[in-house]
Amino acid sequence: MLLLAIESSCDETAAAVVRDGRHALSNVIASQVDVHARYGGVVPEIASRKHLEAISVVVEEALERASVTLAEIEGLVVTRGPGLVGALLVGLSFAKAVAMARNLPLVGVHHIEGHILAPQLEQAVPFPYLALAVSGGHTHLYRVDGVGRYRILGRTLDDAAGEAFDKVAKLLGLGYPGGAVIDRLAAEGNPKAIDFPRPMLHKHQLDFSFSGIKTAVLNHVRAQSELPAGQDLRDLAASFQAAVVEVLVKKTLRAAEEQNLERIVVAGGVACNSGLRQAMGAACAAKGKTVVFPSPLLCADNAAMLAVAGDSYLSAGERDGFALNALASWPL
Ligand code: KG4
Ligand code: ZN
Repeated sequence: MLLLAIESSCDETAAAVVRDGRHALSNVIASQVDVHARYGGVVPEIASRKHLEAISVVVEEALERASVTLAEIEGLVVTRGPGLVGALLVGLSFAKAVAMARNLPLVGVHHIEGHILAPQLEQAVPFPYLALAVSGGHTHLYRVDGVGRYRILGRTLDDAAGEAFDKVAKLLGLGYPGGAVIDRLAAEGNPKAIDFPRPMLHKHQLDFSFSGIKTAVLNHVRAQSELPAGQDLRDLAASFQAAVVEVLVKKTLRAAEEQNLERIVVAGGVACNSGLRQAMGAACAAKGKTVVFPSPLLCADNAAMLAVAGDSYLSAGERDGFALNALASWPL
């Protein structure tokens, strides 16, 4: 099927045209990050308004880049949740309007389902596999047995890993969102300079906790007379990142071993982190596991990732009605 996919769960307005749930003909993302950066985080009402301004332009651009017309589209897939309700409603309403006007089938999918299936757009990753979904809102481990067949194995009990990156960046005065900035600083720092805690590493369960690392960074900064700069800042960034990465890598490998899974997918915005890519790659190589990271465009929020599940559901005859509503929280 030739699908139009729409994503608007947070601060990216995104649309994509995807053939057969595997080939992204376009994947357009309009980020609002500059607007929210001024407030140090996403402001829900502003996000909704910006989606409303951007969505028709983004959809038109997605069609144009794919060289297809709306008349050729055979179905709609849209993020139903979880996310900011006002933001989700913009994408949902737009998708419903197109589906109604063109008499097309529509299906709503889970945002994290999009993330953990995203690598299928670049290579066929055989099921089953272990997926680590690691973003600003999520740090979840799933066993993925197929489209629609997910079992949660572990999750964060407090902050998501990306949220910890963003909060640490904010307290260091590095702006929002801060994950990529910390990543760049960490590359030139000493990861052993400061021994930050590795929460729950030795607990025999697969849940995570990141707020303790963030608090340890805060306490470290408060104990100094001024905010770290220069090499001190790079060392702090590297030490913080090393703590987060070590927990993510060890728990992911533990889950893969317990579940006897050979393949690991790491997805979501934090999957862009170079320290995580390198450490996960090395740990998987040592244990004889294969790790797949989607390319950065498919790690961050985008619409093409929704079409892997969307195509499978629509092809199986599943449809959502026009009463389809947004879900702020929605377990997968
Ligand atoms: O998946 P995503 O685009 O949006 C959510 O669904 O949350 O992820 C955004 C998150 C932010 O917390 C951002 O700081 C983090 O991903 N991030 C990174 C990097 N690039 C983005 N964190 C660490 N290192 C990076 N290179
Ligand atoms: Zn996301």
